[in-house]
Amino acid sequence: MNFSNKLISWYQLNKRDLPWRHTLDPYYIWLSEIILQQTRVNQGLPYYERFVETFPNVEKLAAAPQEEVLKLWQGLGYYSRARNLHAAAMQVVENGGKFPDSYADLLKLKGIGDYTAAAIASFAFNESVAVVDGNVYRVLSRIYGIATPINSTSGIKEFKKLAQKLIDPDHPAAHNQAIMEFGALQCVPKNPDCDICPFHQDCLAFKDNRIEELPVKIKKTKVLNLFHHYLVTITPSGKTVLQERPQSGIWAGLYEFPFVEASGALLPVELTTAREFKDVYNGVRFRESVYNQQPIIHKLSHRKIHAYFWIIHIETEVDDAINVEDARSKPLHILMERFMTQFWPQRA
Ligand code: ADE
Repeated sequence: MNFSNKLISWYQLNKRDLPWRHTLDPYYIWLSEIILQQTRVNQGLPYYERFVETFPNVEKLAAAPQEEVLKLWQGLGYYSRARNLHAAAMQVVENGGKFPDSYADLLKLKGIGDYTAAAIASFAFNESVAVVDGNVYRVLSRIYGIATPINSTSGIKEFKKLAQKLIDPDHPAAHNQAIMEFGALQCVPKNPDCDICPFHQDCLAFKDNRIEELPVKIKKTKVLNLFHHYLVTITPSGKTVLQERPQSGIWAGLYEFPFVEASGALLPVELTTAREFKDVYNGVRFRESVYNQQPIIHKLSHRKIHAYFWIIHIETEVDDAINVEDARSKPLHILMERFMTQFWPQRA
């Protein structure tokens, strides 16, 4: 038996009874797929039912105020999906109200990518385009023993090609439902029960004891968000205060305003009660604090710095204050330069 026949046989015996599997209406299928991109089947079911009930057809969805759509979406997160859903419904209505009926035309709708277009085209119109989602990557990487990272350009191409080669052109809908269901129920990420798997004899990962290793995903280094609140001191005579950075690490030896490090934006009272603020202005009275509402963003390979600059007028002179012109001539790092250019431009 070939791959697709085996898969579909398994599906007929094991599939869940889900409401979107009883319809060929592309509108309902689309709703279900967009919701299921955001959540698991069990959590998605009530959302699907509410959407179908509130907006029984694409015209109703298009005519609704955006707020109503967002309200129904509430709890699913990633609201741009809901906004796209609404915008795509309007696109369909503007084009005469007929839902696109091919993979190529479906791709033109807002928020519909490769996966969603393949799902709708196959489920509703029996077009022979393979879906590739997380389940499909897992199933194929294991059975065919493919270690190409699934989130690499070459991996995406390779899996798409294989998936397309395997789809049964006579049964694209059943094949696509089956492979996703197989990934969701049988070929699960952790501790799959391989003894009862119909691909037990074929699966290269099982044969080589590599089930746990596949699929391979490249770890993208997480970008750390840092929030620096720079203290731009202004003394009564108009001087300011800089500090030198440590001799090692980022921007070693360059100059900057002292800063408070925080986990986000700060209210003035949060700033002035921060430990670093008190260290800098120990015993010094300050008059007011003004700051740029929009932080300057600086991206580094593993870090993203959100730089806020607060103007702090102090009421007494301090020993280490220097003239603004002198400050400008110090070796400054890029964020400081950007601040100086934007907020403290050199007088001509
Ligand atoms: N996940 C994504 N699409 C699905 C579908 N049609 N049925 C079950 N789970 C899914």
